[in-house]
Amino acid sequence: MSQQSAPRPTDLVVFGGTGDLSMRKLLPSLYLLDRDGHLDGGTRVIAVSRDGLTDADLRDKTSSAVRGHPAVQVVEPDVLRRFLDRLSHVTVDVGGDPSGWAALAAALDPGRDRVFYLAVPPMISGDICRGLDGAGLATPGSRVVMEKPLGRDLASSRAVNDAVGAVFDEQRIYRIDHYLGKETVQNLLVLRFANVFLEPLWNSRWIDHVQITATETVGVGGRRGYYDTSGAMRDMVQNHLLQLLCLTAMEPPASYDREAVRDEKLKVLQSLRPVTGDRVAEDTARGQYGRGTVQGVEVHGYLDEAGGPAVSDTETFVALRAEIANWRWAGVPFYLRTGKRVGHARSEIVIRFREVPHTIFPGTDTVPGAGSLVIRLQPDEGIHLTMLAKTPGAGALRLRPVPLELSFADTFSTRSPEAYERLLMDVLTGDSTLFMRRDEVEAAWRWVDPIIEAWNSTDTTPETYPAGSAGPEGAHRLIGRTGRTWHEEEQPR
Ligand code: BG6
Repeated sequence: MSQQSAPRPTDLVVFGGTGDLSMRKLLPSLYLLDRDGHLDGGTRVIAVSRDGLTDADLRDKTSSAVRGHPAVQVVEPDVLRRFLDRLSHVTVDVGGDPSGWAALAAALDPGRDRVFYLAVPPMISGDICRGLDGAGLATPGSRVVMEKPLGRDLASSRAVNDAVGAVFDEQRIYRIDHYLGKETVQNLLVLRFANVFLEPLWNSRWIDHVQITATETVGVGGRRGYYDTSGAMRDMVQNHLLQLLCLTAMEPPASYDREAVRDEKLKVLQSLRPVTGDRVAEDTARGQYGRGTVQGVEVHGYLDEAGGPAVSDTETFVALRAEIANWRWAGVPFYLRTGKRVGHARSEIVIRFREVPHTIFPGTDTVPGAGSLVIRLQPDEGIHLTMLAKTPGAGALRLRPVPLELSFADTFSTRSPEAYERLLMDVLTGDSTLFMRRDEVEAAWRWVDPIIEAWNSTDTTPETYPAGSAGPEGAHRLIGRTGRTWHEEEQPR
């Protein structure tokens, strides 16, 4: 990683500063950073919105958001007071009344670093950057943070990147993918490149296939409007799942430096074999949740969620088979899967090793679940390796898969920071290693676009799966075609 410098006094301006993301993630994470001594005493947070809130309103709202955040177990009143004192609100009507820009200019201090966080839909990012530029606020050294979705296809992503890039050069643009801020994701790189034993096995000779899963028990909640324009492919696959795939598959970078890491990720995206023509039906499956029961609670189907039409082809579940056409991975399928309202939430990367080339233990059946390395992002971050061992006892030799388990919570006494804490800290110290470069985002769209176009050009619709189930049957057929199964179906007996 590029050298971390100490945080400096910064004006952190959050557009969309009173919205859902700010209240659920950004402000609580900033509170935690403040509590742990990672914010400079002079750093201030300026929330920008059209809401016309007073500073006192913003502080009340933020106080409730901090208190309600699961990672903030005990609120320290002095810290909360100090944190709330850093906050102020400025009303800016982007694209409307220009007086807001002058008010924002008046709230900023030319002596501080400047970070503009765009927690807003991508189509207004360009207007915000033009407004900042027009008001002379995008000073040299100021940085801009962009949230996903970064467009809805390659063309719109280019348009957003062009508009932001007209004001901020690439070095000053931080594109967030919060999965890259998760502790286990960073640990994946350490696991691969700080240990010697995995690398010789990390290729098509010894790996049969890889599974990358991010499933959730929650539905779309209050985000039906956004989700109808997105679907699981744009919301999760184009960014989070492909980033996990890149980190799993990339070649060792020469150093842990932002360009070196991102160059290697880009090469993986560029090596993805396009999924087009008949391959779309064979290598992809999509579903939409119907009504059902999740963890004992009856829940609506997607079409009954408020805020969207009663008929919609939006997919809430996607399963895919991807191939990386290079020497290391030729012939190794990467199965990706994500979905909402399934029975179990899990985010994990499963590396399934091949069987031994020759068994000297005849009569010992191939045991399901053996020979897998599971890198678990959530819940219970950890690394789990299953290997075969002999079951104790005389008589016929019997083999059984046994786990080797590394639980981060049990091994380390320190708390794992929230993904947003980590990434906000990186923005404040100017380290963009864990952020996406423009060419990566565009390469990901280049692979995803033809699949979405193919779905849209057929009469087929996503298959309905009951909420609380393991997802659509199509996802099981997709992996089952080659005699493989999803990881949860092969737990050791
Ligand atoms: C977001 C998606 O990027 O990631 C959400 O927009 C999804 O739809 C969320 O729920 C999942 O993140 P996490 O960290 O809870 O796995």
